[in-house]
Amino acid sequence: ENTALQTHFDAVIDADGKIEPRDWMPDGYRKTLVRQISQHAHSEIVGMLPEGNWISRAPSLKRKAILIAKVQDEGGHGLYLYSAAETLGTSRDQMLDALHAGRAKYSSIFNYPTLNWADVGVIGWLVDGAAIMNQIPLCRCSYGPYARAMIRVCKEESFHQRQGYEALLVMMQGTAEQKAMVQDAVNRYWWKCLAMFGPPDADSPNSVQGMRWGIKRISNDDLRQKFIDATVPQAEVLGVTLPDPDLKWNAERGHYDYGPIDWDEFWATVNGHGPMNKERLATRVKAHEQGAWVREAAMAHAAKQQQRQQK
Ligand code: ACO
Repeated sequence: ENTALQTHFDAVIDADGKIEPRDWMPDGYRKTLVRQISQHAHSEIVGMLPEGNWISRAPSLKRKAILIAKVQDEGGHGLYLYSAAETLGTSRDQMLDALHAGRAKYSSIFNYPTLNWADVGVIGWLVDGAAIMNQIPLCRCSYGPYARAMIRVCKEESFHQRQGYEALLVMMQGTAEQKAMVQDAVNRYWWKCLAMFGPPDADSPNSVQGMRWGIKRISNDDLRQKFIDATVPQAEVLGVTLPDPDLKWNAERGHYDYGPIDWDEFWATVNGHGPMNKERLATRVKAHEQGAWVREAAMAHAAKQQQRQQK
């Protein structure tokens, strides 16, 4: 019977159709999706921290309101994504346990500190810009709940990218000190953003199967290149230098050439040894523990409601 189910599954994938939660799917497909969607959810939740640190220090009421909205959006993205992963039969508790025990991955980029206000702008422009580049193709992912969640996430991410770029444009019209802050933030974040797309295709163990299953639509290296090509003209408008002496237009390829990425540093960060890994995880664990009373109260309320309905 499994052969017939597998044949049907393959036909849906080949026809670019959608797989839904109640459809039969191979174990490997389910596992890959749980891995990727839960990592993605964790990234959204941990991603609230570097910018959340600046809410109380935003330079104006307007910037504060924008930043609060943005950080709240990231929390919402995490919640849709946990829900999407739950449709595959993994509970939120299991996913959170894995995160809190340090067994789960989340995006490397959130293990670097936010040292000045310009970092908040640069996270919007470059980090959220890279996230959109990676997430637009996921709107066409073969797993229905993930693809649908991505549509709203991408709309909100594009607001995040715009607000960051606009904040930087304003700073770049300011004092020499403000301009230097922007350049410093760009220098620290540029290479880390290029690494967000994951290892080079040749060293990416999950890529071939992910592409075959229609989960990944564009490869790590191709997305990285698209991001660089789109970002260089934006940097010119802004008036900042991207910190790569090898960055140069290649007319033959029709793309920008770029210098080597430090993959040793990337893997060290992914494996828990980045500058902020310990602090980020500790903050999450503490928030979860301090939120225990809310979960307990919600459960008690739900139980009471149910009892009332049964009467
Ligand atoms: N940070 C941390 N880990 C990473 C990163 C990164 N930037 N890039 C790759 N990895 C991990 C992969 O998760 C994988 O580990 P695993 O096998 O233990 O799960 C390993 O490195 C090898 O990478 P790949 O084989 O290339 O893995 P994959 O095919 O899953 O591609 C990618 C990685 C592109 C990140 C993919 O998982 C993806 O598109 N995820 C959804 C998007 C996402 O998570 N975005 C979060 C950051 S953006 C934001 O939240 C604002």
